[in-house]
Parts: sequence; C-alpha cells; structure tokens
Amino acid sequence: MSKAREKLKRQEKNVERRDRMLIHNVSEERATIEEVFDQSTRMVLYRFLTSGVLYELNGVVNAGKEARVYWGKTKTGEDRAVKIYLTSSAEFKKGMIMYIEGDYRFKNVKRDTRSLISTWAQKEFRNLDAAEKAKVRVPKPIAVERNVVVMEFLGKDGVSAPSLKEQAPNDPQKTYKQLITYMKRLYREAELVHGDLSEYNLMIWKGKLVMFDMSQSVPISHPQAKFLLNRDITNVNKFFSRKGVEVLSNEEVYKQVTGKNV
Ligand SMILES: Nc1ncnc2c1ncn2[C@@H]1O[C@H](COP(=O)(O)OP(=O)(O)O)[C@@H](O)[C@H]1O
Ligand SMILES: [Mg+2]
Repeated sequence: MSKAREKLKRQEKNVERRDRMLIHNVSEERATIEEVFDQSTRMVLYRFLTSGVLYELNGVVNAGKEARVYWGKTKTGEDRAVKIYLTSSAEFKKGMIMYIEGDYRFKNVKRDTRSLISTWAQKEFRNLDAAEKAKVRVPKPIAVERNVVVMEFLGKDGVSAPSLKEQAPNDPQKTYKQLITYMKRLYREAELVHGDLSEYNLMIWKGKLVMFDMSQSVPISHPQAKFLLNRDITNVNKFFSRKGVEVLSNEEVYKQVTGKNV
C-alpha cells in the first residue's frame, strides 16, 4: 500500500472512531452532552481516541456535581473509567483553591477556572499514582489531559462496584484494619492525606478494599493536612463503629497513621 493510501486509511479509521463516540453520545440526554462535552473536552477525548488511550466511550457511570464518570474501553477490550471535570460553580472554584494553595507540587497555578480544573485533574492523577506506588489499592491512573482523567475501571459491564455506603463490607473488622494500613501507607510512603475519606469513596472490588476519588488529596505539608486527616479519621471511625467494629479512638488512629501524637 502506498504511503498516501496508508495515511488515508488511518484518517478514515480516526473518523470511524470519532463517529462511534458521537453515536454513543447522541443517545444520551442532549443537555448532558452540551454541558459535559464542550469544545475543549471533545478535543481531549478525540486525542485519547486517536492515540489509542481509548477505543470507545460509552454511557455515564456516575453524574456528580463536579465530575461525570464515563465507561470507556480500549481496543483490547479493557474497561476504563473516564472522569471528566465540569466547568464549575463559583463555590467549587473557591473550594479547589484551598486545596491547591499550600500544595508544593502546584506552585504558580493560574486562577482562571479552566486552569484550576486542569490542575484539579492533574492533582487527582498524581495522587492516584503516588498512592499506587505506596501500595494503596486505588484505580490505576492511565492518562490525564486538561479536565479528563482516564483510569482503571472498577466494576463490570459498565457498572461500578458498589461503594461501602451502598454495600457494607462482609467482614468490617478486616476492612477497617486494611483501611488503617492504607491510611498509614498513604501518609508515610506517599506523604499524602486523602481529605475526603468516607464510605462514599471506598469500595470492595474482587475482595479487596479500594480507595478512590483523590483530586482533593494533599501533601502532609499542606497547612490543612492535619485538619483533613482528623476529619477523615472521624468519618471512618463513625462508619465502622456503626457497622459493629470496635474501632480505635480517633487519637489512636492518628498515632498509628502518622507515628505522632495528635
Ligand atoms: N475508577 C472507577 N471505576 C468505576 N467506577 C468509578 C471509578 N471512579 C469513579 N467511579 C464511580 O463514580 C462515582 C463518583 O466518582 P468519584 O471519583 O467519587 O467522584 P465524585 O464523588 O467527586 O463525583 C463513584 O462513586 C463510582 O461509582
Ligand atoms: Mg466521590
């Protein structure tokens, strides 16, 4: 085949992919499409589709206030979660600034909404990556660009594994212990604090506890890290004690996680 012909074939393939994506999307509610897929987001998704990060993008898995999670697939049929941050409310913007300021990894970040959201997505990617390296089971981060994070999909046939809120663990005592180990690794190895830890951002997948939703996680040097860690501890202790676990005191968890007294 000639070079020009090969190129044409490649372009046709790309168009085919794009159409496949559009077909999946037009079946959704119109308002949703317009809100989520602005021009810039569509560009990012096209690039993921043409570079092979994604082969198809299917329906919405979860539509939160600040992000939508989609189910995607690779050419080899592996599932992907595609988390798309939305252009945001003034309130969300104020919230993001608190977490970004004081994070040494994101100095001199521009304050316009687009830059903040892009930083937010980068932050989630880097936090997941650092957590994974510290042997905390999280969705494996695959790619990030602007407001879109692609990661391992936890669930089956486009349905997410239930959060601990939706489905209580079979063995809460064991899950609690595992969670303390994760918090300790996150603090001591990754030097991060989750910052929004609760039964909503934990799940059991293939018998193992998974921690997720880490855009707001901050380094332990962040001025709010101690406050956030204490809040995380309060949340998880409340949940597990309701499930009948004889939880440690908040102070004892703090000590186990950090190696220091509160
Ligand atoms: N990697 C993933 N695999 C499968 N489902 C996911 C994944 N990440 C998120 N989800 C689903 O989307 C929901 C919202 O994701 P989350 O990261 O908690 O964002 P937020 O709470 O900020 O909207 C989760 O509760 C879960 O149901
Ligand atoms: Mg969440």
